[in-house]
Amino acid sequence: KKIVIFASGSGSNAEKIIQYFKSSSEAMVVAVFSNNPNAKVLDRAKNHQIPAVVFNKTQLNESFVLQQLHEYQPDLIVLAGFLLKFPESILKEYPKVINIHPALLPKYGGKGMYGMNVHQAVLENKEKETGITIHYVNEHYDEGEFIFQKSVNIEDCKTAEEIAHKIHELEHQYFPEVIGKLITNH
Ligand code: GRF
Repeated sequence: KKIVIFASGSGSNAEKIIQYFKSSSEAMVVAVFSNNPNAKVLDRAKNHQIPAVVFNKTQLNESFVLQQLHEYQPDLIVLAGFLLKFPESILKEYPKVINIHPALLPKYGGKGMYGMNVHQAVLENKEKETGITIHYVNEHYDEGEFIFQKSVNIEDCKTAEEIAHKIHELEHQYFPEVIGKLITNH
């Protein structure tokens, strides 16, 4: 099976997924797509000899990105820190799209809730725990069907950065294997 990853930033999750499937006979990451020409994820893809496609917002919503997807024919699209709205026009053709969200949805989801904004809000609300949610993507932000959630205690965290660190650890631990299970079950 073929996986395409969409990412806008650092891409630490993307790299974990690439590495995980290097030793898999079930699936592989065939390309990384990014809307950010300066994203670190592009260096990571290059280091692993994975082709990258860079596009802008217009190209995402018009035919360019769809045309590029036709080249790679993914069975699964994974959003890993992808900050633009995923277009309905692509979902129509590729309905198997999943996303990772750095909180326990439906809490701390929706437009504007990404990255440090999420952790800052969690900190301000003095939550005792937060976590990660892996879910299908639909036409609304963070509202698709849940696939997996894992919580973590954050009572010892004093800053949003400390929370972010714990969340990244959880993501790296679980995201690749959840994708693996999803792929073998379909
Ligand atoms: C992750 O925390 C993910 O949940 C969020 O964006 C972050 C991406 O991190 N949506 P990275 O680029 O994989 O390091």
